[in-house]
Amino acid sequence: MSDGNKRLGILLSGRGSNFLAIADSIHSGKLTGAEIAVVISNRADAPGLAAAIERGLPAFAIEAKGRKRAEHDEEIIATLQRHEVDLVCLAGYMRLLSPRFVQAFPQRILNIHPSLLPAFPGLDAQRQALEYGVQYSGCTVHFVDEQLDHGVILVQRTVPVLPGDTDDELSARILEQEHLAYSEAIAKAISGSYHVVGRRYEER
Ligand code: GRF
Repeated sequence: MSDGNKRLGILLSGRGSNFLAIADSIHSGKLTGAEIAVVISNRADAPGLAAAIERGLPAFAIEAKGRKRAEHDEEIIATLQRHEVDLVCLAGYMRLLSPRFVQAFPQRILNIHPSLLPAFPGLDAQRQALEYGVQYSGCTVHFVDEQLDHGVILVQRTVPVLPGDTDDELSARILEQEHLAYSEAIAKAISGSYHVVGRRYEER
């Protein structure tokens, strides 16, 4: 059982590089006071799920296909609760959460998004940034509320957009920062030494 550590539940759908960055920073002692309690993927073939199994973590595929969102979310909520999760981390989880899911973990779900929100919410944020012509972009880790890519912001990190950047080049530059930002945000979220004023995160 946990030795006072906050228990993280990771939700992913694909590659899982953010999950691995979190796992590595716990393993290396950079992120303290947290442990990964469970990894859940909505796709059985997600490389991130295979990586979790390889690391010996409790890991489950809970497939969404052919099921109503509410029913699928209930199973995920139950799995998170069974593993006594304190903080849910969406790490490339490509499904919208139902209001019931958000309400089950109020201010206890984090998401990472590859833009400086509120710019470029939704899919293909890096492409949106290139097409718009911004000179800086980055990533945002925020609490999840009932609107898409919208909740209280904990951490943002910026990168320059360079002349001639392709989608892949910008995405890779942002991803490097994502891997740092997620652990920073988890540390803030589990510290408990903050309050939320309106939609603003403030350190105590
Ligand atoms: C990241 O770019 C993240 O910001 C977005 O989905 C991607 C997931 O990448 N939400 P990975 O699966 O963590 O490698």
